[in-house]
Amino acid sequence: MVEALAFSRHADRATVYSQIAPQIDALVDGEPDVIANLANIAAVLREALGFFWVGFYLVKGDELVLGPFQGPLACTRIRHGEGVCGHAWERRETVIVPDVDRFPGHIACSSASRSEIVVPIFNADGTVAGVLDIDSDRENDLDQTDADGLGRIVRSIERVIEGHTHPQMTE
Ligand code: SME
Repeated sequence: MVEALAFSRHADRATVYSQIAPQIDALVDGEPDVIANLANIAAVLREALGFFWVGFYLVKGDELVLGPFQGPLACTRIRHGEGVCGHAWERRETVIVPDVDRFPGHIACSSASRSEIVVPIFNADGTVAGVLDIDSDRENDLDQTDADGLGRIVRSIERVIEGHTHPQMTE
């Protein structure tokens, strides 16, 4: 269990992702409770990268339901295909929205949100377990660097969901 987060406060985002990924692996190693792990991962991402909102929505029936998050209060339920989150669930792929005002159907939980990235989380059987959603209060703030960095972290989450509590650290 990691007790304090170590990262370079002024490094570029790719560097910070590479610094926190092994610490997230260590955090979840040996802890099988998915909600506990998602709560800590949301805290790590917000602390290390300073995002406006970081959180998880989990698939329950035909909706995404709000899970652990860090940031201002958020909407609790999102239908399949709705908003950026429901869109990423439906498309089964990472969605980057440089300007939320230009995304038809964007769900504005906060008017301060300007750009957004949503990364789907998969169960072992290939169904979507939920999504990782990150909002920035700056337009055009999220790109492929975030998709790659967050993708690696989501793979760690998927290993926990699959019940493998000893993530491989070979990346
Ligand atoms: N903007 C999201 C809703 C969730 S909040 O950003 C926390 C969407 O359009 O799905």
